[in-house]
Amino acid sequence: MPLTALILVARRTAAAEDSSQRIMDCFLIKGGRPLEGEVEISGAKNAVLPIMAAALLTAERCVIRRAPNLSDVRFMGEILKSLGAKAEFDGDTVTIEAAKIRGVGDYELIRKMRGSICILGPLIGRLGKAAVSLPGGCVIGARPIDLHLKGLAALGAKIDIDAGYIHATARALKGAELFLGGRSGPTVLGTGNVMMAAALADGVTRIESAACEPEVVDLADFLIAMGAKISGAGSPTITVTGVKSLHGAEHEVIPDRIETATFAVAAAATGGDVTINGSRPDHLYAVFDKLREAGVKIERSGPALKVTRRGRLKPVDITTLPYAGFPTDVQAQMMALMAVTPGISIITERIFESRFMHVSELARLGADIAIEGPSAIVKGGRPLSGAPVMASDLRASAALVIAGLAARGETRVNRVYHIDRGYERIDEKLRRLGAKIERMEGS
Ligand code: EPU
Repeated sequence: MPLTALILVARRTAAAEDSSQRIMDCFLIKGGRPLEGEVEISGAKNAVLPIMAAALLTAERCVIRRAPNLSDVRFMGEILKSLGAKAEFDGDTVTIEAAKIRGVGDYELIRKMRGSICILGPLIGRLGKAAVSLPGGCVIGARPIDLHLKGLAALGAKIDIDAGYIHATARALKGAELFLGGRSGPTVLGTGNVMMAAALADGVTRIESAACEPEVVDLADFLIAMGAKISGAGSPTITVTGVKSLHGAEHEVIPDRIETATFAVAAAATGGDVTINGSRPDHLYAVFDKLREAGVKIERSGPALKVTRRGRLKPVDITTLPYAGFPTDVQAQMMALMAVTPGISIITERIFESRFMHVSELARLGADIAIEGPSAIVKGGRPLSGAPVMASDLRASAALVIAGLAARGETRVNRVYHIDRGYERIDEKLRRLGAKIERMEGS
């Protein structure tokens, strides 16, 4: 077997071992204790993944700081390496050098992580050709990529789907005006893909109905640091004026707003008093608005947040929406909170059609939740009691951990590899806040 093939097999085996070991990990939680103390927020997973992909747009070295140590982030490193780039991790810094890269990604590697679709834009932008495996749907919904492809086609890419691969080719990408709104609103990674491809296109691209998420702004900031000409990121209209080439850059990733929200909800659910350091409270108005309505006290002091809940909680109705609305990535955690809140609350999911996998598992802990179309009707306030539960996806696992912390007795959360994809050392961080949570490895 040639050396490159051997290296690929070894990398795949290492990734498989890593994940198979984690598949067996579980958390044992002894609930009923209020969380108290301070917690530090890590860099944002959903910002760092497209930023790492953006490093493919230049042959020069890019240094990305505050990269969270997560399995998804390491996985993106493997994907970049499979394309020929160097990706080195040192603490929370990842250095990427994509001096010589190829446009064909490793089918199995890319297929495994949906977020890897964000290599498509940089590959077509830099090389004029890309072959990337089609990401599948996942438990939270079908997750089509039609808008990504529509956007790249508008820039002049010819797209074919064959044998499970998206093949995109373009002699020269050309700036264009395009509309990226879909049935559920804008697309976050789709906006990123088009922005990255347009950075090296000829002429001006105007993206209408662009996603406004802070992660899109962070990606735009990184691209600007690389020499791209982008304005309007954070608004529904983004303008990209193509440049001939991009250069290396250094960047610090924004704090993870979903991790911040998760700790705030956990503090509320346990009747705790938690100071959250190193966050961006200005990215979380919608979440804090609902938490305050529910009776949670939130005090801001610069990047620090103090979240306290002493009295009785009140039920709130929530509808998930694109930014700056209530984030779908906090819906499950909020449902766990409403499950311990006396009264009826209605939680409506408008972004992903089947993001309610946590409902049946919350029911094992005693939660009373009924699903009616896109809404979950939560009859809250019944005391939860610990039980073995199964994590189905990243945010569902966070909801189960929160419910376990609020429940009486012992909760065993199986398949915590889902939570390791998006929360850096969540068990350690919770332990420092006084939680009784242990990771049981491979049992
Ligand atoms: N959509 C389409 N066509 C497309 C793309 C999206 O119809 O071509 C639809 C989706 O099916 C969905 C909606 O548009 O109904 C929004 O999807 P979006 O494309 O914005 O999602 P994404 O970019 O694939 C990112 C995050 C998700 C987060 C969503 C929404 C990353 C790696 N993932 O996904 O994060 O839920 O934006 O904010 O950035 C998570 O962290 O747990 C997670 C799932």
